Amino acid sequence: MYEQLLQPLDLGPIRVRNRIFNPPHGTSLSHQGVVTDDLIAYHRSRARGGVGLIIMEGMTVHPSYGFEESFLYAGSDRIIEGLNRLAQSCRAEGTPVFGQLFHAGRGVRLSHDGSRPLSYSASDVPDERYRVVPVPMSNEMVWEFIESYADAAERLAQADLDGVEILASMGYLIPQFLNPETNRRDDEFGGDAEGRMRFLREIISHSRARIGPGKTLGVRVTLDEKTDKGLPALDMIEICQILEADGHVDYFSVISGSSAAPDGWIHVFPPMSVAQGFVADDAAQLKQAVTKPVLVAGRINQPQLADEVLTTGKADMVGLARALIADPEFVNKMATGNADDIRACVGCNQACVGHRLAHFPVSCIQNPVSGRERKLGEMEQAGVTKKILVIGGGPAGMKAAVTAAERGHQVELHEKNARLGGQVNLAEALPGRAEFGGVTTNLEQELRQARVSVVLNSQIDDSALRDIAPDHVVIATGADTRLPEVEVEGIEIIDAWSVIRGDVKPGNNVVIADWSCDWAGLGVAEKLARAGHYVRLLSSGCVAGESIQAIVRDQWIGVLHQLGVEMIPYARFYGGVDGSVFFQHMTGGEAIVCEGVDTIVSCYASQANRDCDWIEAIEGLTVWRVGDAVSPRTVEEAVLEGLQLGWSI
Ligand SMILES: Cc1cc2nc3c(=O)[nH]c(=O)nc-3n(C[C@H](O)[C@H](O)[C@H](O)COP(=O)(O)O)c2cc1C
Ligand code: SF4
Repeated sequence: MYEQLLQPLDLGPIRVRNRIFNPPHGTSLSHQGVVTDDLIAYHRSRARGGVGLIIMEGMTVHPSYGFEESFLYAGSDRIIEGLNRLAQSCRAEGTPVFGQLFHAGRGVRLSHDGSRPLSYSASDVPDERYRVVPVPMSNEMVWEFIESYADAAERLAQADLDGVEILASMGYLIPQFLNPETNRRDDEFGGDAEGRMRFLREIISHSRARIGPGKTLGVRVTLDEKTDKGLPALDMIEICQILEADGHVDYFSVISGSSAAPDGWIHVFPPMSVAQGFVADDAAQLKQAVTKPVLVAGRINQPQLADEVLTTGKADMVGLARALIADPEFVNKMATGNADDIRACVGCNQACVGHRLAHFPVSCIQNPVSGRERKLGEMEQAGVTKKILVIGGGPAGMKAAVTAAERGHQVELHEKNARLGGQVNLAEALPGRAEFGGVTTNLEQELRQARVSVVLNSQIDDSALRDIAPDHVVIATGADTRLPEVEVEGIEIIDAWSVIRGDVKPGNNVVIADWSCDWAGLGVAEKLARAGHYVRLLSSGCVAGESIQAIVRDQWIGVLHQLGVEMIPYARFYGGVDGSVFFQHMTGGEAIVCEGVDTIVSCYASQANRDCDWIEAIEGLTVWRVGDAVSPRTVEEAVLEGLQLGWSI
C-alpha cells in the first residue's frame, strides 16, 4: 500500500526518498531572525518521522520587511550557522531541507515598535486586508530587492541547505508585480505581461547564478487566488511555462489563496469547511502545462488522499503542513502499515495558525508536543507502576489516561455517558463540523494503543471506588452548561448545548445571547438558520466568534451572512419579557431591544463539574483535577493539561 507515495523523486540535483514534503510554515520558533534549538528539534522530529523533504518557513530577505521577531531573516549572515545545524540535523535523519525566501510587499501587519512601518510594492495600490497604502518601489530599489533575494539564496547555499524556494504566491510582493491590478508601473518592471514578470525572472536567474547547479531551485505559485482581482490561473500557468523555458527552475509548488483579502486568506490556511485536497485540480492543470515536477499542498490529511493525488497523476509530491504538526510520525506510520494510528489533522486552525498569527510557537490542539519538542518530546517511564483511575472521557481525561499508560501505569478510564468525547461530541454535531469528531476518534485510537481499560456508562460512586481501589484518581469530568443570572419572563430561554443535542426545539424567531463568542454561538446560529428559523446573534465581543481563530471565524461569518443571520456585536444580555429581549451596548450603554422573540438561546459561560468533590475529600488518596473540571476552556488546554498531568504521575 502507498507504494507510489514511497517512491523517490529527483528535484533537480537533489533526490528525495519519498513523495511527501513538509510545506513551508511559519513556526514562531525562531528568535531575532535566527534558528533556535527549538526550531531544530521541531524539524528534526518531522525528519525522523520519515518525511521526504522539509521546506522551511518563509525567510525574509530585505530590511524593509525584516521583522526578526516573527521571521527568520536571510538578509544577514547571522542566519547561516543555525540553518546549517538544522540542515545537518535533518539530513542525519534522511531528509533534505530547502529554505523559502519571501517578502510580503504591501501585506504588512507587523511593526517594529508599535508605529506603522512603511510598506513597499510595485505601485501604491491599497491593500484590502491590512488597509495599507504601499510606497511604489523606485527602479533602483527593485534592482536592490533582486540582489537581496540572490544574496539570501547564496546564504542558504552557504548554510548547506539543499535547495531554495522562491515564494511567488499568495498575493505577496512577487505576485504584486505579476498582477496588473497591483502593478501600474511604466518602467521595465511593469506594463505588459513580460514587464510584470521581469522581477520574478531576474530574482530566479540571479539566485540560480549564486547557488549554482548543485542546489535545487523551486517556485511556489498560486493558480487560484480565490479573491476578486487575483491573477488568473491561465496567466500563472503561462508564467510557469516561461520560467521552465528559462531553464533555472527545478520544480513548481502549487498553493491556493491570497493574503490580499479575507476570502483569499481563508484558502491559504483552509479550515475544515474547505474541501480536502482542494488544490489538487489546480496542480493537475499546471502539471499538464510543464514538465518539471509539480508539488501540491492544501487540506491533505490522510494517506489515502495523498495517494489519490499522486496515483491520479495530479502532482508529483504531496505536502502536509498541518497534518505533520498534528502527527510528525505520519509517514513512518503509513509506511509500516499503521496508517490507522495517524492522528489526522481536523482543520480547526486553532493551535497552529492561531498560535502563529498571535506570535506564539505553532502547536496542535491534539498534539501539544508540537512546538514543544524540547520540553515534552522525550517521555520518561514511571519508576513505579501505579493504578490510576481517570473519571471522565473527554479530551483531558483521555489524554491523561493515554500518557499515564504510556509511561507504564495501569490505567482505567470511566465515562458516565455511552460515548467518549465530552464537548467534542457537541462541536462535531454542528453543520460542517463533523471532522472535529476526529479529535475523539484519534484519542480513542491512542487509548487502544496505550491499552487503557475504558468503561462506558459508568458513574463512580463510593462502592465503585472501593472496588477499583486506585492509587491515584484523576478527575476529568469536564464542565456543565448554565444559564446567566438575568430575569426572563414569558419567553422561553434554553442553553445552546440542548439545541445542539436536539433535546429542545426553539420557536421560529430566535435570539442567541452569545457571551462566549466561540463556536457554539456561530454553530447554533447556522444550525437554526438552515432549519428555517429567523436568527439574531447578539455577541458580547466586537465581532461574533471573537474568541476563535480568525480564519475559521471569518469563513463562518460569511456563511451566516449568506443565511441571513443578523449579527449584532457589543451586546450585553439583560433579560427578556413577553417576546422582547433586552441587551445593552457594551460601550455606548444604550438599550438594544429585539422584539417578537419566541426563544432565547443562551451561550453562556459553562462551569466546572463538581460531581466528584467528595473524592477529593478522601484522606490519603491523591486526587488531581484536569481540563474543564478545573475551569472551562477549550480542547487545546484540555489535551495539554491531560498530557502534562500524565507526565507528572
Ligand atoms: C502556521 C502556518 C504558517 C504558514 N506559513 C507559510 C509560509 O511561511 N510560507 C508558505 O509558502 N506557506 C505557509 N503556510 C501555508 C502552508 O505551506 C500550506 O500551504 C497550508 O498550510 C496548506 O497545507 P495543509 O493543509 O497541509 O496545512 C503556512 C501554514 C501554516 C499552517
Ligand atoms: S491545531 Fe487543528 S488544524 Fe492545527 S494541526 Fe492541529 S488539528 Fe490540525
